[in-house]
Amino acid sequence: MDQRQRNQQEQQQQNNDDDQLDDIQHGPFPIEQLQASGIAAIDVKKLKDAGLCTVESVAYSPRKELLQIKGISEAKVDKIIEAASKLVPLGFTSAGQLHAQRQEIIQISSGSRELDKILDGGIETGSITELYGEFRSGKTQLCHTLCVTCQLPLDQGGGEGKAMYIDAEGTFRPQRLLQIADRFGLNGPDVLENVAYARAYNTDHQSRLLLEAASMMVETRFALMIVDSATALYRTDFSGRGELSARQMHLAKFLRSLQKLADEFGVAVVITNQVVAQVDGSAMFSGPQIKPIGGNIMAHASTTRLALRKGRGEERICKVISSPCLAEAEARFQISTEGVNDVKD
Ligand code: GTP
Ligand code: MG
Repeated sequence: MDQRQRNQQEQQQQNNDDDQLDDIQHGPFPIEQLQASGIAAIDVKKLKDAGLCTVESVAYSPRKELLQIKGISEAKVDKIIEAASKLVPLGFTSAGQLHAQRQEIIQISSGSRELDKILDGGIETGSITELYGEFRSGKTQLCHTLCVTCQLPLDQGGGEGKAMYIDAEGTFRPQRLLQIADRFGLNGPDVLENVAYARAYNTDHQSRLLLEAASMMVETRFALMIVDSATALYRTDFSGRGELSARQMHLAKFLRSLQKLADEFGVAVVITNQVVAQVDGSAMFSGPQIKPIGGNIMAHASTTRLALRKGRGEERICKVISSPCLAEAEARFQISTEGVNDVKD
């Protein structure tokens, strides 16, 4: 072997190492990857059956939860946790590194430039955005528009991924997606093919759907996950004060699973929420106030909260209620045949 060949070989090796390094930095890792760290295939299957499809999902789970999986002993759980934490970074990093990572977070356009402006580009991937507002305030319409825009290329405000739609109210209409797809010059049937839809019938079912969602997200790239609405079934499945704490516990678990999907797969999670009129003393002074349901559990689970309300005619107003980095600004948008759009004056 002459020097040139040796150099070539070294270069090749270097490239391989770089590839591997790339692998180390970019998840999500399919759960099967644990086998390379000495976890038996049969145990990997047990994890998968319990809904843990990625190494991240194991790394982010509390030990207590892993212990509940049938057929996996305490010793094995420890071995699994050790293997997972070698692949998924769980310790401290510098703010600089985090800053670099956050550059990778993309925003999905809402369809309205005005609205995108106050959202710093659109709906953020990797976290939960809650839309709340009265009936007809445009929550479902915004969800429909996002199902299409998330499929656009990155430079057009898209997420270059598929959408998943959990419908608890039965208001999903593929017809609307076709109309919106037209506006963005996308092929209608392709757009529909890229939206995975499931109707949720009760709160247990709604939670179970998230397990299926995780296994689908391992297979293909999804940019968006919608739950419209996240709370409707909770209002009917649990009734009265007596069941309030059970309801909140169930809801918290559901929201935590959604957050896990956002963390694991970097999808934008959008949930809608209904509101109730607040009937306390303050109503005497400031008129009837509306508030989103789900209480503190809901408030803390969503990273960004947006309140929608009706304006004149087809006009709607969106206000940033809480966000780690957006100002509490308002924007007007319009619901049209082509989905959410700028107000045409
Ligand atoms: P709830 O689910 O009942 O709480 O309401 P929501 O906030 O989800 O309301 P939604 O997004 O369904 O908004 C409904 C509004 O959109 C209604 O005022 C409809 O008239 C309007 N809308 C729905 N489809 C179209 C359409 O094709 N063109 C126009 N211009 N408006 C539409
Ligand atoms: Mg709706």
